[in-house]
Amino acid sequence: MVKGTSISDPGRMRINDIINSASQGKDLTKEDIVQLLLISGRNDLDALFSAADDVRKIAVGDEIYLRGIIEFSNFCSRNCLYCGLRRDNHAITRYRMPEKDILLSAHYIRKLKVSTVVLQSGEDESLNRDSLCRLISRIKDETGLIITLSVGERSFEDYRAFREAGADRYLLKHETSSAAIQKRLRPGAPFENRLKCLYWLKDLGYEVGTGIMVGLPLQNVGMLADDILFMQKMDADMLGIGPFITHSQTPLANCPNGDPDMVLKVIAIARLVTKTTNIPATTALGSLSRDARLKALSCGANVIMPDFTPLQYKRLYDIYPGKSDDNTDVETFMINLHAQITKLGRIIGQGSGYRKQEIK
Ligand code: 5AD
Ligand code: SF4
Repeated sequence: MVKGTSISDPGRMRINDIINSASQGKDLTKEDIVQLLLISGRNDLDALFSAADDVRKIAVGDEIYLRGIIEFSNFCSRNCLYCGLRRDNHAITRYRMPEKDILLSAHYIRKLKVSTVVLQSGEDESLNRDSLCRLISRIKDETGLIITLSVGERSFEDYRAFREAGADRYLLKHETSSAAIQKRLRPGAPFENRLKCLYWLKDLGYEVGTGIMVGLPLQNVGMLADDILFMQKMDADMLGIGPFITHSQTPLANCPNGDPDMVLKVIAIARLVTKTTNIPATTALGSLSRDARLKALSCGANVIMPDFTPLQYKRLYDIYPGKSDDNTDVETFMINLHAQITKLGRIIGQGSGYRKQEIK
């Protein structure tokens, strides 16, 4: 039962009923999810977050899994209105890391005992199938790391070749399930194609991650509820949920940032409804509020993605402001992280960190 239920308050009873239903594994309706997203009182928020934390503990345990990111190219042929890497942003210096530097970073990830590397880039057209396959197989052969790719929408043949070369997981956020927002903010990138890519990736046996930005212009709680139901329906293994952060060199320069508290609610509800998924406390959330990133670990999140991109490149991977302001080297970041995780009563996951197949 949710703690602190007051019989005299019918509104809170309804919230508590919804939270209890979800905790017991019953499906939530869109209307239920909207009710939870609209929560603002401290007691109700605490009830939601503590129920999500309980489900997290039962479904995925106390381990926090680490994934080391290498942002290896900031070229992008797309023009998403929210993103600093968009094609029309001529204010950033573009780079492509040489293969030897990518390999050095991958070895460093291995050295710090992180089991997964995430190779992330913009949609860089010059990264052809063969060069990516060679990179994937070299990393696999030399380090044995689990390889997650995050290089955007590609052809089925590319995805198949990457998988055969040794890629294990793929991140492709659906960003928003609202057709209206997609159309406005992702010009020339039909949502149907992104969906098709997600299902190809599943068919090819990748562990698949999807996810959203919270607080995009035009977005409302009904759309966020649809996003949560979408993530549940597509049975994604990983869910990246972070705030939209305004970038001054984009057409959305005058729009407000997403609300960190709303991000925490979405993470908590996503945990309640998807149970065993891997959910990172995202870097974007940490850029808005360090506290919120830690708080995310106490309301559903179970993954952290330390950035192993060498500093000279990292500061140019300017998707949103604040992302690379933290000049702490990754070794120090990891030492601090260990301390914070211990303080939370949690432990660093040692194994591969694949999605748990069923609740323990
Ligand atoms: N704020 C937050 N996240 C952003 N992304 C792109 N632009 C922004 C922004 N302004 C995220 C998207 C994309 C990933 C590469 O970065 O979710 O999937
Ligand atoms: Fe390119 Fe991704 Fe940024 Fe869109 S969100 S511009 S596809 S890097």
